[in-house]
Amino acid sequence: MSKTREEINQTEKDYWNEGKLQRSKIKKLRRHAFFYSYKREKKILNKLLEDFNDKNVLEIGSYVWAAWFNENIKPKSLSCINISEVELENGKKNAATKPFPVKHHIMDANNLTFEDETFDIVFGGAILHHLDIEKSIGHIHRVLKPGGKIVFLEPLNMNPLYRIYRKMNPQERTPDEHALVSSDFKIIRQKFSFNHYFFDFFSVVFGFISLKIFGDKNYDNWINKLGYNLDVFFSKIPFFHSLFARVIIYGSKK
Ligand SMILES: C[S@@+](CC[C@H](N)C(=O)[O-])C[C@H]1O[C@@H](n2cnc3c(N)ncnc32)[C@H](O)[C@@H]1O
Repeated sequence: MSKTREEINQTEKDYWNEGKLQRSKIKKLRRHAFFYSYKREKKILNKLLEDFNDKNVLEIGSYVWAAWFNENIKPKSLSCINISEVELENGKKNAATKPFPVKHHIMDANNLTFEDETFDIVFGGAILHHLDIEKSIGHIHRVLKPGGKIVFLEPLNMNPLYRIYRKMNPQERTPDEHALVSSDFKIIRQKFSFNHYFFDFFSVVFGFISLKIFGDKNYDNWINKLGYNLDVFFSKIPFFHSLFARVIIYGSKK
């Protein structure tokens, strides 16, 4: 029998409150595979986040904002929601010294309790894939003002290699999360016009080879740079999008 949303939410809460995920195995590969692509991600996000200045902004599954916002990003207000008390509390520590108001709420992103048309922008990092896409996208659409914007960075589950890896390493994920597939994009497209940037296919394959050849900390090398450059090139061709591991989705309310 499939789990109810309440049961899924409780599992998510427990996992994040109790820090149950084990991700140390993948750390070394990440250092190689993502050395260049994190720089690209940062550059793209910095550009997209310029829109956040003087806007009423909501982060769901908070708190990636503390890592994403540089000192030039000053929203009019930032509201942060999370289902986990511990995750929200970590964000509060970062908010104390910020030159803009930050409010925190324990809330289910599948059932936002804000008034209609409250926010100019809703964003999040690695959160949509923990949610019921239809419900959460409906609520995000509802709480956004006309023309309101979205920015999300999410993992993808379309490449068979990543699917196999995920199946073999369940300890790295919460049990009910589902990295996005094309049917999720269709649901988002019903309510939002959006575009994307895809990340991390060749950089993972080349990162693996680089780790084997150069060893743990020697990630600034030509193999990783080549993998990264192939990613940038092939990510521009829609036919190859399903190879990639992560995506930035940015767009606006229909
Ligand atoms: C992969 S973590 C991402 C955290 C943060 N956004 C980041 O990028 O570091 C997923 C987050 O989603 C939160 N979460 C899971 N289900 C949720 C729900 N239904 N409503 C709100 N937050 C939820 C978890 O507590 C956790 O903080």
